[in-house]
Amino acid sequence: MAILAPSILSCDFSRLKEQLLMAQEGGVEMIHIDVMDGHFVPNITFGTLIVDAVRKILPKAFLDVHLMIQNPQDCYLDFINAGADNISFHLEVVPDFDFLINLIQKAGAKASLAVAPGTPVHMLDQVLPKLYLVLLMTVNPGFGGQKIIPGMDQKIIQLRKKIKSRGLNTLIEIDGGIHENNIEYLASCGASVIAAGSLVFSDENKITQKVREISDKIKRF
Ligand code: DX5
Ligand code: ZN
Repeated sequence: MAILAPSILSCDFSRLKEQLLMAQEGGVEMIHIDVMDGHFVPNITFGTLIVDAVRKILPKAFLDVHLMIQNPQDCYLDFINAGADNISFHLEVVPDFDFLINLIQKAGAKASLAVAPGTPVHMLDQVLPKLYLVLLMTVNPGFGGQKIIPGMDQKIIQLRKKIKSRGLNTLIEIDGGIHENNIEYLASCGASVIAAGSLVFSDENKITQKVREISDKIKRF
């Protein structure tokens, strides 16, 4: 079953609580939280204070923290202490990613790897069984509201095959440029967690309705 993970990057932060509660009303279970440091990506977003706030607003939600930062090894623990259930970090920035996966798991969170659009999935081969999910970026990391990069469907299909042939349970999350016109197709390719920002939050009057409609559309995959 594919599920939706609304990305708070597209929230109106002056109304964070209200908008998160609207998403919850729509039945959301997972919230995607994009941390950017201005080094790994040109944009800067927020740190542990926001994770802590989301945790307080939605005590039962699964907090999926996506670290788009140069040095995840320096602060993964702070994010876990703030309430992160899953930590995804980019394999492009941590040569010894297996080691950091172990540290995250030892600290009590789920550990996942994020891969930028240009990074091939065979790089994950060795650690795949240890991962909670693989976060396939479907746009270049850094900003919400971008258009999906063509060809990402093939990457999802390739990774899905790999996971299936090895008998693993690893989830595939896709992130960036997901809209009404491609969401069902990408879920049918094998994406089981779908992070979406502008799709969910661009119309502040329809957040609950959007979450409900989209979740309903993708749950059959
Ligand atoms: C981009 C972020 C995404 C972003 C997606 O670097 O990782 O999670 O919020 O935004 P949309 O859904 O608007 O493309
Ligand atoms: Zn993200």
